[in-house]
Amino acid sequence: MDADSRVTTVSEVPEDGTFLFTVMEGFDEREVVLTKLTDGTVEAYLNYCQHWTDVRLDKGSGGTVRDDELVCTRHAATFRKDDGVCTHGPCEGAVLETVDVTVEDGAVYLTDDDYRFDHVGQASDIDLSSGGRIGFDGP
Ligand code: FES
Repeated sequence: MDADSRVTTVSEVPEDGTFLFTVMEGFDEREVVLTKLTDGTVEAYLNYCQHWTDVRLDKGSGGTVRDDELVCTRHAATFRKDDGVCTHGPCEGAVLETVDVTVEDGAVYLTDDDYRFDHVGQASDIDLSSGGRIGFDGP
């Protein structure tokens, strides 16, 4: 596995929260949240809600997890940690955007061809005015 794509160790990823890191998509920074499932595997999603796309799930201090679901604190949408499906809330049925990661020897690697690992933590160029607010009209 490429050392440049190593994000963190599995033990650093919380089950009751999220681990935030930043990737590059071309010249643009994108934030990703990692979360650990009860079986010890990890899943990764782009760090924005499917209801209002300018709302981040992890604002830099860890996202909210309740009953194995990621919670958007703005309007309380809940997303299953294992597949990102919104099970309740204004965007019910929508799905978080998955980012491919792989675990090897206790470390988490970014293995998504669309992105390049940049750094742990939040993006340096967060601009909440960009990206627009896209309403979700249901499945
Ligand atoms: S912005 Fe996330 S539920 Fe409304």
